[in-house]
Amino acid sequence: MDEQAWDDVAATFEDDIFSVPEHDRKQKILQRVQRYAKKDGSAADIGCGIGRTVPMLAEHFATVHATDISSECLSVAEKRNARYHNVVYHHADLSQPLPFPRVDFALCINVLLIASRAKRQAMMANMCAAVKPGGHLLLVTPALESALYASHRLVQLNEQRGMKPAVAQRKAARETTKLDMGIVVVNGAPTKHHLKEELADLLMQEGMEVLEIKKIDYPWAYILEDAPPDMPAPMPWNWMVVAVRTAPS
Ligand SMILES: C[S@@+](CC[C@H](N)C(=O)[O-])C[C@H]1O[C@@H](n2cnc3c(N)ncnc32)[C@H](O)[C@@H]1O
Repeated sequence: MDEQAWDDVAATFEDDIFSVPEHDRKQKILQRVQRYAKKDGSAADIGCGIGRTVPMLAEHFATVHATDISSECLSVAEKRNARYHNVVYHHADLSQPLPFPRVDFALCINVLLIASRAKRQAMMANMCAAVKPGGHLLLVTPALESALYASHRLVQLNEQRGMKPAVAQRKAARETTKLDMGIVVVNGAPTKHHLKEELADLLMQEGMEVLEIKKIDYPWAYILEDAPPDMPAPMPWNWMVVAVRTAPS
């Protein structure tokens, strides 16, 4: 999705755009924010959307830079978080260097989605460069392993519903553009999905040391339209990575 598409979705964002923080039942994100909180420090919400995670940053850091490519999303974010006076909003494209000083903690949830490798690499580099040496990054991305696992579960469901294996597989086939490059079509948009090892490698190349990679799971209904309510775990998931900046630049 480009800037215009994100602007267009701003008014219905809450209904249309999956909320990772809302589905983070074990509050893994909040726990990490609390762990790295710095009352006199700074944080960034990179690709903040309508500002769902602005409050948790504003309550744990002296200054928060909330940034997004969509001015419409930023305007919703600013209105819904008007009670926080320590948040500065920036209309900025992450494929360019970010327009604020380096922060102690950066949060970036489901922003590295674009299919273009060149643009995504620039976004990754600018995101990591926005973190002070010794500072932390919490990054969430769609998981390619989860997308493939969901296909397996859908084939199984189709077989349980009486389809022959070949039919079950054909009906479960996902729309992909370049599956080997991690691109899966989600709601019509080619969307980058990362592997766990791929994320660790990319972050290492940007001078980050990965401290942990965990799953944040979410209900089947978001990925399989007619999933039975009792569909068992493991559930589909996003990757949550926490990394520390080791390189000085
Ligand atoms: C899936 S939404 C996630 C929003 C928010 N992080 C959340 O968890 O609710 C992706 C956000 O990334 C923003 N975005 C996409 N490409 C961007 C770019 N190149 N630079 C800055 N923000 C971008 C979009 O405008 C959108 O608000």
